[in-house]
Amino acid sequence: MSEEKSSSEVQEERKVYFGERLREFQRRALEDPEGFWSEIAENLVWFKRWEKVLVWDPPFAKWFVGGVINASYNCLDVNLKNGNKNKVAYFWEGEEGITRTLTYYQLWREVNKFANVLKKLGVKKGDRVSIYLPMIPELPIAMLACARIGALHSVVFSGFSASALADRINDAEAKILITADAFYRRGKLIQLKKSADEAVKQTKSIEKVVVVKRVGLEDTPMTEGRDLWWHELMKDAEPYCPPVPVDATDPLFILYTSGTTGKPKGVVHSSGGYLVWVWATMKWAFDPKPDDIWWSTADIGWITGHSYTVYAPLMHGVTQVMYDGAPDYPKPDRWWEIIEKYGVTEFYTAPTAIRMHMRFGEEWVNKHDLSTLRILGTVGEPIDPEAWRWYYKVVGKERCPIIDTWWQTETGGFMISPAPGIELVPLKPNFSVSYGLPGVHAEVVNDEGKPTKPYERGYLVILAPWPGMLMTLWRDPERYKRVYWTKFKPNEELEFKIKPPAIYYTGDYAMKDEEGYIKFMGRADEVIKVAGHRIGTIELESAFIEHPAVSEAAVIGKPHEIKGESIVAFVTLKEGCEPSEDLRKELRMWIRKRIGPVATPEAIYFVSKLPKTRSGKIMRRLLKAVVSGAKLGDISTLEDASSIQEAIKAVEELKKAMGEEKKS
Ligand code: WT7
Repeated sequence: MSEEKSSSEVQEERKVYFGERLREFQRRALEDPEGFWSEIAENLVWFKRWEKVLVWDPPFAKWFVGGVINASYNCLDVNLKNGNKNKVAYFWEGEEGITRTLTYYQLWREVNKFANVLKKLGVKKGDRVSIYLPMIPELPIAMLACARIGALHSVVFSGFSASALADRINDAEAKILITADAFYRRGKLIQLKKSADEAVKQTKSIEKVVVVKRVGLEDTPMTEGRDLWWHELMKDAEPYCPPVPVDATDPLFILYTSGTTGKPKGVVHSSGGYLVWVWATMKWAFDPKPDDIWWSTADIGWITGHSYTVYAPLMHGVTQVMYDGAPDYPKPDRWWEIIEKYGVTEFYTAPTAIRMHMRFGEEWVNKHDLSTLRILGTVGEPIDPEAWRWYYKVVGKERCPIIDTWWQTETGGFMISPAPGIELVPLKPNFSVSYGLPGVHAEVVNDEGKPTKPYERGYLVILAPWPGMLMTLWRDPERYKRVYWTKFKPNEELEFKIKPPAIYYTGDYAMKDEEGYIKFMGRADEVIKVAGHRIGTIELESAFIEHPAVSEAAVIGKPHEIKGESIVAFVTLKEGCEPSEDLRKELRMWIRKRIGPVATPEAIYFVSKLPKTRSGKIMRRLLKAVVSGAKLGDISTLEDASSIQEAIKAVEELKKAMGEEKKS
């Protein structure tokens, strides 16, 4: 007999969970999903109760079929009736120091009025509205107004460029664009309307552009007949708009995210399942109490803001902080000052921000009284144990659990995270996400799709549908099937709990420890995470190639102390084009313009050829090893070994040049 345990024996052992109550929730979600989810869905207000909790036609899941609901009703009207009417919904603060406060009643009024504005502009149920706004209250107001009339919002992060916005408007065929004159970042004025105008030029579907006066710029260009001021439209808007009943399986919104091709994916979320999922996951992971002050620092342009600055906290009737500005402006303690000022109790941010504040030093944190904090959360990329400990000790003073939440744009809400709202299990800085939440059947598998042993790296897969899962990709169900559901096939060893007819591939590396705690180890596909932002390498490469001087490009993520990863590109030039420092600068600007400042490459290396396999595939793995100084590993499939020597030389030369620049 060999010492090796079969993977099913390992599975058995993994059932040794910490947390009796958590295990009980998991068991119920698994054995009686209908009963389990019905009970949870009762917490929302339905205009008509569902007939069937789940219709699973792999890989398409329909949740709460037959149910009729409205998201804005659940976020707003419900709070008008349950005692939260005059409670603050948002404490808003702008970078320059101005503030605004909106109660639930005031928010409800603004949403109703803006819903009527949209109706007047011809927006109907099922239409798409693109929203390109900074972090101002008009952003959630516009989203909820869409939801109120059954239109789909497609929010585009205000840090994205005009062409990124144009691509997203075109794919969604949005009728209306909502934007602002400008906003401040680190004291600098960012002219958003100018980018919006540039984008609209490249689109055909936009009929009207609604402009919020955020800054009050004198010379905002307004196109006659197309552009309208938000505040003028709101002046004569009717104060009440009845919420449009929508099917639970009608889409609530589209949110674009990067994938492994050049074209962003339009992730579509449902109206019923999504709301139930974000309601439940917020309760389990952060257990909001009536007097909590919740602050999630993520921009609403990302899924984190959709789910946990708009839909879930409002359904829970929570008071929030919303901040439109840089975390370290005017001084590195801006965030800590805000926490103290509003008495934030639950704070949710990203590892990249934690590492940045770690660098500034704990004296900035210690200047402020953070004793109101009771729970700290993190999301976006793996948190290293050092940052975890700093967050725990310096920010939380060893009193607050660290809720590391793993999830994705596609999953709608938290998937794997500690759940103090059910039962807090012992936390481990190195396996900080702990277990899957109830209803999340997560497993780590190897290349053959078999469960891995403890401490063995594999791919994270999900074995059963969950209410918050994406419905499809906008107008591309084939891509939806291909990207998420084809990498792994069901096999016997995965059938220890349920018989999954289809397996959801997350694109992430992970491992488990012997107690079944999960640790995430970064992306397993061609996606880079820069400061928590998701950027596709192919998307970047396509942008490089569009430059007239560039012939080919290979983009990789290089480990970065604060940002997690930074962008590095190897570029070959067209005949007649010479590498130069000016061209390097120009390419950096080109990428910023094409995608946005988050995508600015840290280094660009000029080479005469890229390392490729004999079949012509770029070997990014080798370039990754070169920039991080790691071993090259297997190079047997490399077509031309001199390409790698050249890459090594290019990296060394630039390093030397930078060193000399610093000296002089
Ligand atoms: C990818 C999804 C979910 C909101 C923000 C990002 C990485 C996310 C964690 C975490 C380790 C994480 C994964 C995932 N990721 N949270 N707690 N620990 N990695 O959403 O842009 O859709 O990115 O972010 O790689 O696949 P997203």
